Amino acid sequence: MIYRSSEWFGKKDKMGFIYRSWMKNQGFPEDMFDGRPVIGICNTWSELTPCNAHLREIAEWVKRGVFEAGGFPLEFPIMSLGETLLKPTAMLFRNLASMDAEESIRGNPIDGVVLLTGCDKTTPSTLMGAASVNLPTLVVPGGPMLNGKYQGQDIGSGTAVWKLTDDWKTEKITYEEYSHAESCMSRSPGHCMTMGTASTMACMVEALGMTLPGAAAIPAVDSRRKVLAQLSGRRIVQMVKEDLKISQILTREAFENAIKVNAAIGGSSNFIIHLTAIAGRVGVALNLEEFDQIGSKIPLLLNLMPSGKFLMEDFYYAGGLPVILKELQSVLHMDALTVNGKTHGENLAGRGKLVCYNKDVIAEFENPILKEAGIVVLKGNLATNGAVLKPSAATPALMKHKGRAVVFENIEDYHARVDDPDLDIDEQCVMVLKCVGPVGYPGMPEVGNMVLPKKLLAKGVTDMVRISDGRMSGTAYGTVVLHVSPESAIGGNLGLVENGDIIELDVEQKKIHLHVSDSELARRRNLWKQPEPVASRGYVNMYVRHVQQADKGADLDFLVGVSGPKVARDSH
Ligand code: FES
Ligand code: MG
Repeated sequence: MIYRSSEWFGKKDKMGFIYRSWMKNQGFPEDMFDGRPVIGICNTWSELTPCNAHLREIAEWVKRGVFEAGGFPLEFPIMSLGETLLKPTAMLFRNLASMDAEESIRGNPIDGVVLLTGCDKTTPSTLMGAASVNLPTLVVPGGPMLNGKYQGQDIGSGTAVWKLTDDWKTEKITYEEYSHAESCMSRSPGHCMTMGTASTMACMVEALGMTLPGAAAIPAVDSRRKVLAQLSGRRIVQMVKEDLKISQILTREAFENAIKVNAAIGGSSNFIIHLTAIAGRVGVALNLEEFDQIGSKIPLLLNLMPSGKFLMEDFYYAGGLPVILKELQSVLHMDALTVNGKTHGENLAGRGKLVCYNKDVIAEFENPILKEAGIVVLKGNLATNGAVLKPSAATPALMKHKGRAVVFENIEDYHARVDDPDLDIDEQCVMVLKCVGPVGYPGMPEVGNMVLPKKLLAKGVTDMVRISDGRMSGTAYGTVVLHVSPESAIGGNLGLVENGDIIELDVEQKKIHLHVSDSELARRRNLWKQPEPVASRGYVNMYVRHVQQADKGADLDFLVGVSGPKVARDSH
């Protein structure tokens, strides 16, 4: 078989000389250019993305497997997005990193690609880019950190931060105890070990069929993570030989499977935005309501923080995602193809006796933690194109609630006033935060789970209804209405809410309603002024002009779709 890379390395002319000669400066022998499959290893390693800092080493194990199978591995870096350091939010750059991945794959002599992922945005960005090229593609997630251990207890990434911060703010713990927890929480390589967005994304790629079976939950430092990497290296070479493209894996059925699995694991609300964006790249139309229709009748099976009690290490020891797939087999498309060339059903059958080793961690389908999980899509005059809420992270008593709005015009206004002792607010109020959507912030940060006012925390209040056009960290919890679309900064009704307005949330009726008349809203709209654009140049300027709303996946409008792997012209 003649592969794509032969258009570079197979040429017997000046261009072939150029393509091979400079590569040989790295010490590659002649036979590496003999037409064997060239495997790109797309690495999101960075010391500024701590969750992915071990991926340089993981890449070596992928290479072992590629060499063993007769391929030629070539590792390359792309922009790495770390949740913790990157300002104003890693989400602002997800689409930029996807462009980097897409053009790096297409423009180089690559026949198949392994995506090394970890921290939240590194999974969707690389997958979006690879999907728009459509070569054989396989994902090796980096794996979660070991469970956090603090004062004799397991603590979870992110989730512990929100809880400990509340405890310190209300003087339940000292600053010394608070800061001591930093090293207790993050004590090994890997991504957040709660069911935050990174773990959600790892489960999503396994459910989509984009990883070898069992990939999602193996801890980053477990030697079996390296075995997975090596086997993945072997497999991608075969995928190239079989010409098994990413578009054959990312089918409508695969996306439906991912939605159901996400419901069963209590996955992050960010899942919706990322899956929608990935689907947009491959031409599978997923609308927001389908997340609710397909997912909300699925039972919650996994007992992981932030919704539950355990952490990713426990999930792996209990059996990992294959046990979830087995429990869900009556509702999943088991004939969906995965990267190993077998269907989910064949993979399960091939595992012999697949048992759950801890039913406190993974419940049975017939005896779930919650009968109906998934993410609820809310509609109403406050979110005409929809908003989302994760019921498993919310307080049941607040899921039907009417309260007086306390409005923060933007994030600075929120920080300036939330802890003001004179702020007119009580636990029945609904906190509204504007201008944190894709255009407004810009980049739609994870600020939707606003920390409650100090004076209410001190009273023992643990949850309130909060509404915004932003996102929430997958490690966070609360009765939080997110992703309001259209967002406030482009003229959505959220931008017209005033202090004292009555807002009604009814999760069962899937309703979010602002009790203000249409004529009053029209009057306010006439007076409304669009916030000034934040960037006059650069990527951010392009981003705000082209970003789609949350219900469309917040991809840039011109990135939707597939261009394929063809490049018509040579470089010299
Ligand atoms: Fe990277 Fe949570 S901060 S996965
Ligand atoms: Mg996160």
